[in-house]
Parts: sequence; C-alpha cells; structure tokens
Amino acid sequence: MKLPTGVAGKSRPLLAAVCALGWAVWSAGASGQQKAAPAAADTSDYVGAETCKTCHEDMPSKGFYKNFEESRHYVTTLDTKKGPEYHGCEACHGPGKAHVEGGGDKTKIFTFKNASAKDVSDRCLKCHEYGNEHANFSRSVHVQNNVSCVDCHSPHHPREAEHLMREPQPQLCYGCHTEMKQLFTRTFHHRVNEGLVQCTDCHNPHGGSLTRQLRSTEAQDVVCFKCHADKAGPFVFEHQAVKIEGCTSCHLPHGSSNPHLLKRSQINLLCLECHSFTVDMGAPTVPTFHNQTQKYQACTLCHVAIHGSNSNQYFFKP
Ligand code: HEC
Ligand code: HEC
Ligand code: HEC
Ligand code: HEC
Ligand code: HEC
Ligand code: HEC
Ligand code: HEC
Ligand code: HEC
Ligand code: HEC
Ligand code: HEC
Repeated sequence: MKLPTGVAGKSRPLLAAVCALGWAVWSAGASGQQKAAPAAADTSDYVGAETCKTCHEDMPSKGFYKNFEESRHYVTTLDTKKGPEYHGCEACHGPGKAHVEGGGDKTKIFTFKNASAKDVSDRCLKCHEYGNEHANFSRSVHVQNNVSCVDCHSPHHPREAEHLMREPQPQLCYGCHTEMKQLFTRTFHHRVNEGLVQCTDCHNPHGGSLTRQLRSTEAQDVVCFKCHADKAGPFVFEHQAVKIEGCTSCHLPHGSSNPHLLKRSQINLLCLECHSFTVDMGAPTVPTFHNQTQKYQACTLCHVAIHGSNSNQYFFKP
C-alpha cells in the first residue's frame, strides 16, 4: 500500500495504532465544534477573487481550465447571501489580505501543502457536507488514515473534468491500493479495468455507515442487489448462508481464479465448509443418504437454486 503524504511508516498494525490514537485525539478535540470552519476571520481580511487574479491570472488554469470563470468553483463568487469566506479563492485559501499586503507572502496564505486531512476536509466540507454521499466523510476510513479530498480531487488541475478528479478510476484508487490491481487481473473478475463496473459502484470513497466503506442499495440492502436483483428474493425457501452470512461467504467480490468468482475451486469443498458430513454440534449437517461419492460431487448438480428457491426446500430444480 502506498500511503498518502503525511502518513509515515510501513507497518500496518503500527500505522493502525497511530491512526487510532490520532483519531481519538482529534475526536476529543473536535467535540462540540464538529464542523469547525477555518478560524473565524474579520470580513475585512478578505480581498476577493478579482484582487487575487491581478497576480494569479493563470489560476486555476494550468493545463485545464483557461481561467477561474470557467472552473466549477466560480459560481461561489456569485453567491450574494453568504459572506466573503464562501466566495472564490478565499473560500478555500482563507482570507488573503495579509498575503496581498506582503506582496505575495507565502506564509500568510493557506496552501494545501502539509495540511492534515482533517484541516483540508473541513474547508471543503463547509460547503460539501450534505446528502448521503458526503455526510460520513469525517468518520470515513479514508480521513482516519489521513486521506483528504485533495488526494482524489484537484480544483485547479484535474485530469478528469467530471467531479474534478486527479485521475480517472480505477487508476486513482490503484495509486494507493496497489494490491487491488492484481485482483482485477484474475481470470474471473468484475470488469472494472474494462470500465463496465466501477470501484465506486460498490464503495463510497467518502465513507458510509457500513464496514469497508461499502454502499448499500436504496432499500438499504447489500450493494450486490443493485445489479444482481434476481438474488435478492425474498424466497419462500431462503438459503441462510445468503441471508445471514452474505454474498462474500461464497464469492470474492473483486476477482478470483475460480469460475463465478467463487472462493473455492471445488463447489463441494465450499459447501462442506459449513455442511459437514460428520455430526458436529451446531453445524448444519448433510443427511446420511449422501454417500461418500456425493462428497466429491459438485453439490449444485442437485441443489441448483443455491441462492434461494420458491418451489423447493432443498433448492432443487423447480
Ligand atoms: C501582489 C500580488 C499577489 C496577490 C494580489 C496575490 N498573490 Fe498569491 N502569491 C503571490 C506571490 C508572489 C506568490 C509566491 C509565488 C512563488 O513563490 O511561487 C504567491 C503565492 C500564492 C500561493 C501559493 C503558495 C505556495 O506555497 O505555493 C497561493 C495559494 C496564493 N498565492 C493564493 C493567493 C490568493 C488566494 C490571493 C487572493 C486572496 C492571492 N494569492 C493574491 C502574489 C500575490
Ligand atoms: C475549491 C477550492 C479552491 C479554490 C476555490 C481555489 N483554490 Fe487554489 N488551490 C486549491 C488546492 C486544493 C490547491 C493545492 C494544489 C492542488 O491540489 O491542485 C491549490 C493551490 C493553489 C496555488 C498553488 C499553485 C498550484 O498551482 O497548485 C495557487 C497559487 C492557488 N491555488 C491560487 C488560487 C487562486 C488565485 C484562486 C482563485 C482564482 C484559487 N486558488 C481558488 C484549492 C482551491
Ligand atoms: C478516496 C478518494 C476520494 C476522496 C478522499 C474524496 N473523494 Fe469526492 N469523489 C471521489 C470519486 C471517485 C467521486 C466520483 C463518485 C462516483 O463516480 O460515484 C467523487 C465525487 C465527488 C463529488 C461529486 C459527486 C456528488 O455526489 O456530490 C463531490 C462534490 C466530491 N466528491 C467532493 C469531495 C469532498 C468535499 C471531499 C473531502 C471532504 C472528497 N470528495 C473526498 C473520490 C474521493
Ligand atoms: C464556498 C463553498 C465551496 C467550497 C469551500 C468548496 N466547494 Fe466544491 N463546489 C462548490 C460549488 C457551489 C460547486 C459547483 C456545484 C455544481 O456545479 O453543481 C462545487 C463543485 C465541486 C466539485 C465538482 C462536483 C461535481 O459534481 O462534479 C468537486 C469535486 C468539489 N467541488 C470539490 C471540492 C473540494 C475538494 C474542496 C476543498 C478543497 C471544495 N470543493 C471546496 C462549493 C464549494
Ligand atoms: C491517497 C491514497 C488513497 C486513494 C487515492 C484511495 N485510497 Fe482507499 N484507502 C487509503 C488508505 C490509506 C486506507 C486505509 C488503509 C487500508 O485499509 O488499506 C484506505 C481505505 C479504503 C477502504 C476501506 C478498507 C477497510 O479496511 O475498511 C476502501 C474500501 C477504499 N479505501 C477504497 C478506495 C477507492 C474505491 C478508491 C478510489 C475511488 C480509493 N480507496 C482511493 C488510501 C487511498
Ligand atoms: C462488486 C463490488 C465491488 C467492487 C466493484 C469493488 N469492491 Fe472493493 N470490496 C467489495 C466488498 C464486498 C468488500 C468486502 C470484502 C469482505 O469483507 O470480505 C471489498 C473490500 C475492499 C477493500 C478492503 C480490503 C479487502 O480486500 O477486503 C478495499 C481496500 C477495496 N475493496 C478496494 C476496492 C477498489 C480499489 C476497487 C476498484 C479497483 C474495488 N474495491 C472494487 C466490493 C467491491
Ligand atoms: C452458499 C454459497 C453462496 C452464496 C452465499 C452466494 N452465492 Fe452466488 N453462487 C454460488 C455458487 C455455488 C454459484 C455457481 C452456481 C453454479 O455453478 O451453478 C453461484 C453463482 C452466482 C452467480 C452467477 C450465476 C447466476 O446464478 O447468476 C451470481 C451472479 C451470483 N452467484 C451472485 C451472488 C450474490 C449477489 C450473492 C449474495 C446475495 C451470492 N451470489 C451469494 C454460491 C453462493
Ligand atoms: C454495478 C453493478 C454490479 C454490482 C454492484 C455487483 N455486480 Fe456482480 N456483476 C456485474 C456484472 C455486469 C457482471 C458480469 C461480468 C462480466 O460479464 O464480465 C457481474 C458478475 C458477477 C458474478 C459472476 C457471474 C458469472 O456468471 O460467473 C458474481 C458471482 C457476482 N457478480 C457477484 C457479485 C457480488 C457478490 C456483488 C456484491 C459484492 C456484486 N456482484 C455487485 C455487475 C455488478
Ligand atoms: C457460510 C455457510 C454455508 C455455506 C458455505 C453453504 N451453506 Fe447451505 N446452509 C447454511 C445454513 C446455516 C443453512 C440452514 C441450516 C438449517 O436450517 O439447519 C443452510 C441450508 C442449506 C440447505 C437446506 C437445508 C434444509 O434443511 O432446508 C441446503 C440444501 C444447503 N444449505 C445446501 C448448500 C450447498 C449445496 C452449498 C454449497 C453450494 C451450501 N449449502 C453452502 C450454511 C451454508
Ligand atoms: C445426487 C444429488 C445430490 C447431490 C450431489 C448432493 N445432494 Fe444434498 N440432498 C439431495 C437430496 C435428494 C436431499 C434430500 C431431500 C429430501 O430429504 O427430501 C438432499 C438434502 C441435502 C441437505 C438438507 C439436509 C436436511 O436434512 O435438511 C443438505 C444440507 C444437503 N443436501 C447438502 C449437500 C451438500 C453439501 C452436497 C455436496 C457435498 C450435496 N448435498 C450433494 C441430493 C443431493
């Protein structure tokens, strides 16, 4: 895993411990003023985007937008209801008067360099913390690991205009999640590299209420049903493995060397992980008429409707 700037160390457990500590300290410090906007400044400390442009006429143009008027954040300058801290350059860079009076004193303006993920994100969230998509960012695994908005988005120099992305997917994600790249090159995989499915179909990079930053469907079901609706049921005879343990008890969500993205190369071994041929307290057993031969057969030869059935308790063909 390549880590974002500001996260040192290679040891995952150590990193996790450090991050957990950082998180705890942050949470404690921020309680009571959760969405703390950048330190309140006097409105007279703001000079307005037009002034900034007298020296930075090429911002945010380098390579992408010709000028600020063309860029997505220009609309903020047209907002007449809110104060100057919501307008143009200074909505992100903070009040610029001292910087201007100092003839462009670099130390008197907020640059995103070396800023913590929390500091960066709070600036952006003062306008973007709305709706399900963004409401959980402050608790996301990403921000807890010092990944901020500007690790993925670039207001000035995006490579992809839509959503101001630094990189298009999946390259953006592979940049840090190097181990994921290999999974999607396996023989059987969700066609992410081919552009048919995106990482963000299943994950919300801004965090959410589920583990692994997973999305759910609108009906709060597992994300898989968004595209595999036929597996959702409800069925008269449900397979408890699907209902309770979930899709990933049998499938690898990213890629697999086994057909159908299965975890095991032999279906019988997959089933026998839970259905033992010996009487084992608590575990669902296979009836004794299943002989030793069947133990080595693909159980789905007979138990076809493995995700649930409306006609047969044992998931046979209807
Ligand atoms: C009087 C000219 C002038 C004005 C007006 C001005 N700047 Fe600058 N700014 C500079 C100079 C000079 C630098 C330093 C450039 C360098 O060294 O690369 C700079 C640097 C910056 C940097 C980058 C600092 C860094 O470390 O890379 C930011 C961000 C910035 N200005 C934002 C603003 C904003 C926002 C405004 C309006 C509030 C503004 N500037 C107005 C002259 C100006
Ligand atoms: C939506 C937030 C946002 C707005 C609005 C914004 N900036 Fe920036 N600016 C950034 C970020 C983030 C960076 C850090 C570089 C990056 O991530 O691309 C940056 C970097 C800079 C730099 C450093 C040089 C560079 O090319 O990275 C300058 C100078 C600058 N901004 C000036 C301005 C000026 C002038 C305006 C208004 C015309 C402005 N910014 C508006 C977010 C913003
Ligand atoms: C780990 C990468 C990552 C981080 C961190 C991240 N984003 Fe995003 N963001 C994305 C991707 C990818 C999309 C496109 C989503 C999609 O295709 O479903 C997106 C979409 C968006 C959109 C447009 C879509 C919408 O529903 O509004 C906004 C606005 C946005 N992000 C703002 C932010 C802000 C603000 C932050 C920080 C508080 C942030 N993002 C942090 C990756 C990221
Ligand atoms: C002053 C309020 C404000 C601040 C601060 C702000 N934004 Fe925005 N942002 C907006 C507005 C308004 C839009 C335009 C929405 C639109 O075009 O529908 C926008 C657009 C975007 C988009 C494109 C959304 C899309 O659907 O494609 C992204 C990404 C984004 N902002 C990220 C950021 C990041 C990252 C920061 C912090 C560095 C930031 N914004 C700071 C108000 C803000
Ligand atoms: C700047 C680096 C960076 C980028 C870019 C990035 N991530 Fe992450 N991501 C991390 C770090 C660091 C973690 C926390 C450590 C870990 O779990 O691997 C993380 C965690 C995650 C997790 C949660 C893992 C868990 O254990 O809960 C998911 C899911 C995830 N990222 C998906 C994505 C997706 C999808 C994208 C692209 C839209 C993306 N990331 C882009 C750095 C990044
Ligand atoms: C078809 C849905 C789906 C797609 C597409 C997808 N993921 Fe996942 N991802 C999952 C599920 C489900 C898990 C949880 C696996 C578990 O808990 O066993 C997961 C887990 C993860 C984790 C946590 C570590 C791990 O291996 O469990 C990371 C990081 C991650 N995904 C990143 C990505 C990235 C990056 C992409 C795109 C290149 C991506 N995912 C595409 C469904 C998906
Ligand atoms: C008990 C193990 C198990 C669970 C849990 C499970 N599957 Fe399957 N799935 C299988 C097996 C075995 C096959 C291959 C069937 C065959 O060979 O005929 C399969 C095949 C599939 C297929 C391809 C063939 C088809 O029927 O469309 C899809 C898509 C699929 N599963 C999606 C899901 C989803 C989505 C979930 C979660 C709701 C899920 N599976 C849960 C065992 C499982
Ligand atoms: C955005 C839509 C989408 C989501 C969400 C999604 N899938 Fe898929 N899935 C597909 C598509 C499209 C295919 C067909 C892939 C192909 O033909 O390359 C597929 C194929 C599969 C297959 C193999 C089918 C076969 O015939 O061998 C399995 C198993 C599967 N998905 C399971 C899952 C699981 C488990 C989840 C949730 C973690 C999930 N999918 C989420 C779109 C999705
Ligand atoms: C993750 C654990 C798990 C896996 C893997 C699993 N099952 Fe199950 N299965 C269960 C549970 C739990 C039940 C419910 C048992 C009960 O009600 O006694 C069940 C029920 C069944 C039933 C219906 C039993 C009845 O009495 O109604 C059949 C048939 C079955 N499984 C076949 C299979 C086959 C075939 C596979 C492999 C494709 C498989 N199972 C994989 C956990 C699993
Ligand atoms: C040749 C067909 C066939 C094969 C192959 C097969 N089964 Fe069965 N299975 C049956 C029949 C028939 C029943 C019982 C139906 C009844 O009692 O009416 C059954 C019942 C079951 C039950 C329900 C037990 C109960 O008493 O509730 C489970 C669990 C089960 N099988 C698991 C498996 C597993 C695991 C495999 C693979 C290792 C497997 N079966 C292979 C035909 C088969």
